Amino acid sequence: MFIENLVDKTMKNLSQFSDKTEFAEFKNFGDFSTSLPLKIAKAKGERPDKLAISLAEQIKVKGLNAKPTGGFINFFLDDDALLFNLTNLTKFEKQNKTAVVEYSAPNIAKPFSVGHLRSTVIGESIRRIFDFLGWKTIGLNFIGDWGTQFGKLLVAYEMWPTDISKDPIKELLSLYVKFHEEAEKNPKLNDEAKIMFKKLEEGDKKIRKTWEIFRNLSLKEFEKMYAVLKTSKLEDYSESKFFNKGQKIADELLKEGIAEMSEGAVIIPVPNKPPLILRKSDGTTIYSTRDLVAGIERFKAYKPEVMVYVVGNEQKLHFEQLLYVLKKLKVSAKMEHVGFGMMRLPEGKMSTRRGRVVFLEDVLAEAMNKVKVIMKERGVDNKSDVEKIGIGAVKFADLKTNRNRDVLFDWKMLKFDGETGPYVQYAAVRAKRIGEKFGKGKIKILPENTKLARKIVALRLAVINAKKNLRPDILANYLMELSQLFNEFYTKEKISGNESHEWITSKVYEALENGLFLLGIEVPNQM
Ligand code: ARG
Repeated sequence: MFIENLVDKTMKNLSQFSDKTEFAEFKNFGDFSTSLPLKIAKAKGERPDKLAISLAEQIKVKGLNAKPTGGFINFFLDDDALLFNLTNLTKFEKQNKTAVVEYSAPNIAKPFSVGHLRSTVIGESIRRIFDFLGWKTIGLNFIGDWGTQFGKLLVAYEMWPTDISKDPIKELLSLYVKFHEEAEKNPKLNDEAKIMFKKLEEGDKKIRKTWEIFRNLSLKEFEKMYAVLKTSKLEDYSESKFFNKGQKIADELLKEGIAEMSEGAVIIPVPNKPPLILRKSDGTTIYSTRDLVAGIERFKAYKPEVMVYVVGNEQKLHFEQLLYVLKKLKVSAKMEHVGFGMMRLPEGKMSTRRGRVVFLEDVLAEAMNKVKVIMKERGVDNKSDVEKIGIGAVKFADLKTNRNRDVLFDWKMLKFDGETGPYVQYAAVRAKRIGEKFGKGKIKILPENTKLARKIVALRLAVINAKKNLRPDILANYLMELSQLFNEFYTKEKISGNESHEWITSKVYEALENGLFLLGIEVPNQM
């Protein structure tokens, strides 16, 4: 039986004694364990160690050895179960369930920011994790291509015509910055921008055409970024696709009494929070209008069990409002805002409005250059490996941190030792090389490699936990620990020539390769 089913069965058996049966996974105490005896004993004033012994006897589960220790019970897979889980390490049954994962969502005419990088990296990982666990997954890109800011940009482009074909994002960005500078002196420009956006929504052909040029040039730039990051195909769910229906929905919800008028705007009240705005008093839609429609549409289109939005924590309030209203409108999927903190570049937060911008492309290119130097010193000079290591390092540094925390972009991420991507990749390369020596020998586990074997099997729990909590860092940290344990094993044991060790090492590779894949990271050929 698979380890996760053994966990479930054990917890079910334990539930007859208490209703709090979450299990804790203690690193070196069993394959999993529970502190339930301690908790029950405390409540009843009994001795925890005695209770642990008696509970361990009462909850026999086939495939497990239960070892009471103090107030805990530690569970160990028996040999058969361990072999079974190792052999089928990465097998998961197909689920008839769909997860819609929305991530990336950059804004046209603006650089792909570090925030969008985080969304892309975290979202891609979450999507792959669902996929790995047998779900059907859909990735959506809610590209920011609509809104008053395009009114501003269009006004600026009309006033200061520029050649935007060569370096579109930089040119459009400077137009945007210039607009803000000028508008500070001449606030009338803001009104012009509003009128311009209204015309865009009303379908003015000429304006729409210019907007399309901005959009297409920007999408091309984004595609470059996705190619570098090896992001899976995302469905185009751009904001512009949803404003029309937004207008209709505002009218309908008004009629139904779900929405109401407030100072000329159409709003939906949200308990204890500011209302969600559906239409501004000038009759145009806003971000939340389009987000609401896009939410309803994806639910209708895919009938998903789960809908997640991978967007920075600065939009927490927006998603509280949005998800509340979506629920009210009978969108019955389990919806989650997967928030994350900021990634700070050493220079501080980036802002497009102030115009002092660090371009992500440049940051990634610098990462590659640095890796190239490191690799040359090691006598390796292979472009594709350099890319895998550079991008892998950036992704790993992002993903190993609990996503709600801020992360500091620090070149330490490129080091081959420490809690880094290259460290895990290196362990994988090494495990691959040695594991490949295992031919068709008989598979078995030895006392010298049982600890490592158990750690390998824990991959399954790490992936399941990462999905449950929508937290790839759980998996990233597991991979770190497995790499460390494998490196200890490698230093201590003579692996070559020992069939059991070679087999286990091939399993280390399988766990690392699959785990890294779930983080969107590839294993280089040589390091
Ligand atoms: N384009 C937005 C931004 O850069 C993020 C969109 C997030 N997704 C959503 N469904 N609102 O801030």
